[in-house]
Amino acid sequence: MNIFRTLALSASMMVLGCSTALAANLTIGFSQIGSESGWRAAETSVTKAEAEKRGIKLKFADAQQKQENQIKAIRGFIAQGVDAILVAPVVATGWENVLTEAKEAKIPVILLDRGIDAPKDLYLTSVASDQVKEGRVAGEWLVKTVGSKPCKVVELQGTVGSTPAINRKKGFEEAIAGQKNISIVRSQTGDFTRAKGKEVMEGFLKAENGGKDICAMYAHNDDMAVGGIQAIKDAGLKPGKDILVVSIDAVPDIFQAMAAGEANATVELTPNMAGPALDALAAFLKDKKQPEKFIITESKLYTPADDPKGEYERRKGLGY
Ligand code: AHR
Repeated sequence: MNIFRTLALSASMMVLGCSTALAANLTIGFSQIGSESGWRAAETSVTKAEAEKRGIKLKFADAQQKQENQIKAIRGFIAQGVDAILVAPVVATGWENVLTEAKEAKIPVILLDRGIDAPKDLYLTSVASDQVKEGRVAGEWLVKTVGSKPCKVVELQGTVGSTPAINRKKGFEEAIAGQKNISIVRSQTGDFTRAKGKEVMEGFLKAENGGKDICAMYAHNDDMAVGGIQAIKDAGLKPGKDILVVSIDAVPDIFQAMAAGEANATVELTPNMAGPALDALAAFLKDKKQPEKFIITESKLYTPADDPKGEYERRKGLGY
């Protein structure tokens, strides 16, 4: 925090004596991954709204899916002397140097929605879901739904090297382990995008007897599922019936697909990571209160029994 900002901050805190005053003087850098999915776009708009609500000046940098751009943006934030940095890390590895630079500059860093493989003292806290649990919830739904029926699953993975791709795979595999009737027959990355999800699913359908041998599609996010649904329809099959569809995020478009009978289950990931992150930061800056190292958001399962039309409308009003 620079000296002028510190003085202004103390003065306003003396007048107002509350954490809102503290937040109102902050400048925060946000290194976002990009806009690969509907969920990501929602997280961006919710983060901007949460900052605005608190009177925080948010410097936003879109990394276009590239870690090198994120590192460059973080270095830029450090050079500008921001009060804190939010980062949604595209992949798990390669953060140690730049986060050490932030630490040396005494700028707290908060991770949003994805984890990293780096010493924990390099970030103040991480606000994310339990991604292994998300995969497990999706897998348990499938186990319950197919019962003893043989079921070949195709898997659309997220971005290679990202924690949601690693952990959602792990959790799903844990849930189906021991179920001799269920097996993953194909698994490939669709990079969390709708276009790649469609393209990869087209390949899976061709390789598996035009899709007739596939019982379920598990996608690490809803956008890839929506792309995959289109591929299934193009192949002349009925998504949601001939091929079960289970994914993660709970964005409006998957509820639209559910309402049309074309998707069967999704696990919710809240786009509001910034609210808890900025609250933790305010408490830390105010009286050095160390937040929990991991702030875990909920992972709730939604199926067609949960009013998909209503969920679609409700979520449309939430920044998606
Ligand atoms: O890190 C969260 C994941 O990133 C979301 O599930 C996905 O949609 C996004 O791209």
